[in-house]
Amino acid sequence: MKKTKICLIMAVLLILSTVTGCTKKKEEKPEDGYSINYLVLVNKLNPLPENWEKEIRTENFTNSVGMNVEVETKAYQAYLQLKQELENEGVYIDLDSARRSIEEQQQIMDEFSEEYGADYAAKVVAKPGYSEHHTGLALDLYLIVDGKDITLNEDLVQYPEIWQKIHEKMTKYGFILHYIDGKEHITGYAYEPWHLRYVDDPEIPKEIMDKGITLESYLGMVNETDPVIDLGTSAIYSEDELREMAILIKCTFAAWKDCELHSIRYAGDEASSEENLKWINSISTGTEYVKVVEFLMDFHSPKNNENSALEADHEYTDYQWWLGRDAEGSWEIVSFGY
Ligand code: DAL
Ligand code: ZN
Repeated sequence: MKKTKICLIMAVLLILSTVTGCTKKKEEKPEDGYSINYLVLVNKLNPLPENWEKEIRTENFTNSVGMNVEVETKAYQAYLQLKQELENEGVYIDLDSARRSIEEQQQIMDEFSEEYGADYAAKVVAKPGYSEHHTGLALDLYLIVDGKDITLNEDLVQYPEIWQKIHEKMTKYGFILHYIDGKEHITGYAYEPWHLRYVDDPEIPKEIMDKGITLESYLGMVNETDPVIDLGTSAIYSEDELREMAILIKCTFAAWKDCELHSIRYAGDEASSEENLKWINSISTGTEYVKVVEFLMDFHSPKNNENSALEADHEYTDYQWWLGRDAEGSWEIVSFGY
């Protein structure tokens, strides 16, 4: 179910991408004829472009744990320079994974779903065909600390100082961080300090990282400060009806002092169950509801919130909003929270 939800988050981006296109700058054609779009955007809404496989040039090498890794040629050269500079300062990195085929991505999705469940897998692994790794321009690093290979995500996040060093150095070699902390509502993925994305021109990473924005925003596909309102798809409710509910939530939320809205999204038809209807009627203070709907919200609470029940300066994700429809057809908010 979460996979569906996460895909839904990006529906607004799809519209924007169609309007604006996915690129900002054209690559100049070099003499040897090798020219790819280093600003290509592959995300939950934009699959790997057709013919990419034919156009890309790659290098293969064996990493410190004996695995073959394939990387786009220029990205690999840039990576080697970054690696050398880091090594000079006592930071040791290697590449866990870069270019992946559709089949390899499927295998990773299956492994994560099996080990951690489909909900978690959808937050950290892209659907085959929609992974930036297919481009060869996304590089997953791992760390070598005191001679030990640190490869698991849960272990890698234990080294924030090392990641900070890497992120400071990477921009001049043409790398950005795509899955930034706090921008999950735009990228659709959890923070990944290890996932570097090669964009070639070092001026671009500088701008992106200095501003703390996503590639989506740099390419003009989203405005970072606009909330994403995602009505998804429903076999039960019309788009107008869902929009009316989302507006009701947005207006109610507007009174939450200094809270910053990131996204509101329809949770899916599954939530409109008899069981949930029974539940909202059991907490209702008089109204008898005939329908129930769930929306999910991501928002940030204010730094200073003395008079609020919310935790200060906290990113709330998948915060639930439950609405009920009475016999006359009016929707109202019945409950919110976790
Ligand atoms: N981990 C990133 C989102 C991918 O699977 O492409
Ligand atoms: Zn990655």
